[in-house]
Amino acid sequence: MTALTSLLGIRHPIIQAPMAGVSTPRLAAAVSEAGALGSIAVGAGNAEQARAAIAEVRKLTGKPFNVNVFTHRPAQADPAREAAWLDYLRPRFAAQGAQAPASLREIYTSFLGDPAMLEVLVSERPAVVSFHFGLPTAQQVEALHGAGIVLMASATSLEEARRIEAAGIDVVVAQGYEAGGHRGVFDTERPDPAIGTLALVRLLAARLRIPVVAAGGIMDGQGIDAVLRLGASGAQLGTAFILCPESSATPHHRGLMRQGGEGLDTAITAAISGRPARGLVNPFFDAVGAAGHPPIPDYPIAYDAAKALHAAAAARGVQDYSVNWAGQGFALAREMPAGELVRTLAGEMQAR
Ligand SMILES: Cc1cc2nc3c(=O)[nH]c(=O)nc-3n(C[C@H](O)[C@H](O)[C@H](O)COP(=O)(O)O)c2cc1C
Repeated sequence: MTALTSLLGIRHPIIQAPMAGVSTPRLAAAVSEAGALGSIAVGAGNAEQARAAIAEVRKLTGKPFNVNVFTHRPAQADPAREAAWLDYLRPRFAAQGAQAPASLREIYTSFLGDPAMLEVLVSERPAVVSFHFGLPTAQQVEALHGAGIVLMASATSLEEARRIEAAGIDVVVAQGYEAGGHRGVFDTERPDPAIGTLALVRLLAARLRIPVVAAGGIMDGQGIDAVLRLGASGAQLGTAFILCPESSATPHHRGLMRQGGEGLDTAITAAISGRPARGLVNPFFDAVGAAGHPPIPDYPIAYDAAKALHAAAAARGVQDYSVNWAGQGFALAREMPAGELVRTLAGEMQAR
C-alpha cells in the first residue's frame, strides 16, 4: 500500500499514462480492471468528445480512471511567424507533391480557456483528473475538488512541483527527461534543466508533502520497484503501453517500436508541435528541427503544419513525417494485452 493506492483505492501503484493519439478508452478500462489506474487523454479534443470517451470507459469498467487535459498558455497567433514557418516547410511539401497550407490554426484549445470541458469533468466526475503543461486556475481546482475529483499535475522541476503543491493539487507526477511524449514544462521560453527521473523523483519526494508519481523511462516491475525505493508513491508508464493491442498506435509506430532500439534513437524537438516532446527520430528531429530554423509557431499551431506535412507524405505512402512519440526505454516495451501487462508489472515488482 502506498499513499497513492490508498488515495485512489487501486491495487497497484501503477498509472497508465494518458497519451493523446495513442491511449484509448479500451486501454484505460483494461488497465483499471487489472487494478492499476487507466488514463484517457482528452486534451487534443473538445468537451463533447471528452464526454463520449468517458462514457466509453464506463461501459467497460466501474473502476477509477484518470482524465487528462492540457493546461498550456493559450496559443498566441502570430501570422508573420506562421507564414515564415510555412515558407521554411514549403520545399518539403513540394517534395511530396503537395502545397503548403495557406495558414495555420490553433487545432485545439487549452483547458484554461475551455469552460465546456470543465463542465463535462464536474458533471461526469471521473475519479481523477490530471494536468499537463501547467496549472489550472484556482476556480477550476475548486470546482473539480468540489466534485470529489482527485487532481494530479506533471512537474519537470522542483519549482513547478512546489507550484503544484501550493495550488492544492493532490499528487505530483515527476516527469523526467527520459519520458516519451511532450515534456510537461510550464514555461517553454526558459531554459529546460532537463532533469532525469532518478534525480527528480528523489528531489520531489524529499521536498514535498504530497505523493510523488515517477514518470519517464520506467518499463518494467524492476523500474517501478526502483522509483518506489526512491520515495515515489507510484509510477506512470506511457511507452510501456504503446504496443498493447488496445492502444491506437499506428502500424508504423508499432513497427518502429518492435525494432527494439537497434539503430533507432529518441530525441526531443519542439519543431513538430511547438513544444518540446520526445519521440523516435525522423526528419522532423534532425532536419526540420536542426539549428538555424526560423522561430516555431506557438503550441499547438505548429502541430497543424506538422500534421499537414505528414498527411501529404502519407498520401504517397511515405512515413518520414509521422509522429511517433516514445521514451528512452522504448526498446524494452512488450507486446501483450494491457491487463496482462499490468499483472506482469505487478508480479515483477513483487518479486523484488
Ligand atoms: C505517445 C505518448 C503520448 C503522450 N501524451 C500525453 C498526454 O496526452 N498527456 C500527458 O499528460 N502526457 C502525455 N505523455 C507523457 C506521459 O504522461 C508520461 O510522462 C510518459 O509517457 C512517461 O515516460 P515513458 O513514456 O518513458 O513511460 C505521452 C507520452 C507518450 C509516450
